Amino acid sequence: MDSDNQTVLVTGGSGFIGSHLVEQLTARDFKVTVVDNFANSTTDNLARVLDKIEVLEMNVNSDAFKKIVTDRDFDVIFHLAANAYVPPSVKDPIYDFENNLVSTIGLLETIRQAERDPKLIVASSAAVYGNPVTVPITEEMITDPISPYGVGKLAMERYTDVFSRVYGMRTASARFFSAYGPRQKKQIIYDFIGKLKKDPTTMVILGDGTQMRDLVYVEDIVQALLVIMDNSPLDGTTYNVATGIGHTTTEIAQTIVDALGLNAKFTYTGSVRPGDPHVWIADIERIRGIGYEPTHTLTQGIKKTIEWYEATH
Ligand SMILES: NC(=O)c1ccc[n+]([C@@H]2O[C@H](COP(=O)([O-])OP(=O)(O)OC[C@H]3O[C@@H](n4cnc5c(N)ncnc54)[C@H](O)[C@@H]3O)[C@@H](O)[C@H]2O)c1
Repeated sequence: MDSDNQTVLVTGGSGFIGSHLVEQLTARDFKVTVVDNFANSTTDNLARVLDKIEVLEMNVNSDAFKKIVTDRDFDVIFHLAANAYVPPSVKDPIYDFENNLVSTIGLLETIRQAERDPKLIVASSAAVYGNPVTVPITEEMITDPISPYGVGKLAMERYTDVFSRVYGMRTASARFFSAYGPRQKKQIIYDFIGKLKKDPTTMVILGDGTQMRDLVYVEDIVQALLVIMDNSPLDGTTYNVATGIGHTTTEIAQTIVDALGLNAKFTYTGSVRPGDPHVWIADIERIRGIGYEPTHTLTQGIKKTIEWYEATH
């Protein structure tokens, strides 16, 4: 896409994934506006690009946000603002519902009422699948979420699709599998690095070590979002965003141990958190078909994440 004078709105743009996306958009000379309420981030994540972008502190459920979407004629909107994790949705399903589903239908309806025509790409999640019966998981596979977060993401995808079918809006949903990388201060890779920094000799692993994840490095998530923006027909399609390769928690832990040059022993709790499925491996042929190809192996992504960790902690 030619970025000359193109304007892009990124909701949740100061978050983990959003800030990496904003950096790439800025590098491609898009005019970027970030909307974030800083519930789960600070502008520190945007330090490298703050002088090149507009940052608006507001809630995506506010009238002020609706006015921005109505008054400005954005060429592209990436909707990433959300409660981004399963545990808060289990603790407080209404909080998740308001930040994820209400915000999305509010954005869709604001665009429709304002008769705007941006490319709209929303961040969904592999949580829509629940516990898949077979892998790799294709987009056509039955969706059966097992957390409030997953059901909210599924509903937001369906609304996004329906607004394309019924009102002709240009939309797509990106189902991110487990993301990791610099600036993410939670989840498996960050937790394991932190535990090993504290105790380099032993590490407790949640579950029995056989739980499998398709972990995708944040730069590959950004690549996927840009490929969707550039090449998707934007007819409501959903895309898996992953690597197509699964790693067990024991393999992930061992890769980090090796990268840190340690010789740690693992012990296992045997049980997992409610809402956490056992095996996730994605089929990524649909997004490959529009030009996406993951560029980071687990070892490469972990190396970069450790470099960031060591520079900032
Ligand atoms: N990180 C992952 O592994 C993962 C996996 C699947 C899907 N996703 C989705 O990707 C998106 C980005 O996730 P992330 O990992 O960068 O999380 P994040 O928490 O770092 O980023 C989300 C951002 O949204 C902001 N936000 C939350 N509610 C808001 C509201 N009501 N108004 C304005 N801003 C608000 C937060 O302050 C934060 O900066 C989310 O939609 C998330 O559900 C993430």
